[in-house]
Amino acid sequence: MLSLTKKRKKFWRFKTLSRTIPTHVGIIMDGNGRWAVRNGLHRTKGHSTGLKATKAIVAHVARSPIQNLSLYTFSTENWTRTQEEVGALMDLISSHLKAQIPFYNDYGIRIVHSGSKLRLTHRITDDLTKIETMTANNSHLTLNLLIDYSSQEEIMRSMQRITDQKLPITQENIANNLDQPSLPPVDCVIRTAGEKRLSNFMLWQSAYAEFIYTDTLWPDFTAVDFDQAMDEYSHRHRTFGG
Ligand code: IPE
Ligand code: IPE
Ligand code: MG
Repeated sequence: MLSLTKKRKKFWRFKTLSRTIPTHVGIIMDGNGRWAVRNGLHRTKGHSTGLKATKAIVAHVARSPIQNLSLYTFSTENWTRTQEEVGALMDLISSHLKAQIPFYNDYGIRIVHSGSKLRLTHRITDDLTKIETMTANNSHLTLNLLIDYSSQEEIMRSMQRITDQKLPITQENIANNLDQPSLPPVDCVIRTAGEKRLSNFMLWQSAYAEFIYTDTLWPDFTAVDFDQAMDEYSHRHRTFGG
């Protein structure tokens, strides 16, 4: 088996082509339900197939020079789905976190969580704490999992932390008190399944992000689609208001 460093060199064509590489990519992984309906399957099957696509993309990104990846996994608004669907999603998240620690360590991936831990079951919060601790020293990729995540709530949490510390409300203090303050701003947001909205995804961090969307449903999204998105990103001209 090739070492990870060699794999990074072998597989990452953007590096050799000297294209602009984003430091932080966010993905709104949408379309699991529609994929299931189109294939005559239960929505739950869409989510489990979507998880397989997620693992392949994470492995692909870990071999790339991209340092940070934020994945919209479960939004706070997703609690309004049926109890059956929410239960199936939580089971999938929990079993994945339990089983995949060796995968994350093999690929040098550090897991961090953004979102509220208050409404999640102890099972999930324990799984998250364990995987965050067991992958803390990995340095190839920081994988930020957004679970029970609402960007508006995250900004409110930041404001509360600032108030508790009796600090002034400044842009710097707000950024420094978000759930994962060490993450750089999001350079590029990819959304699948044809929707062109943010749905409460990292509003503060994505202030100047490039937005790339595709009609491909998340379970069908592959490394080739990801590379296409990075290719599109590398041709964008970012001016940041200047
Ligand atoms: C995204 O797929 C996964 C989650 C929101 C958890 P959806 O379940 O939203 O799929 P569609 O939008 O119904 O097709
Ligand atoms: C956003 O997708 C949340 C996740 C991908 C986890 P949704 O399917 O929940 O968002 P809307 O309802 O299309 O805005
Ligand atoms: Mg959706």
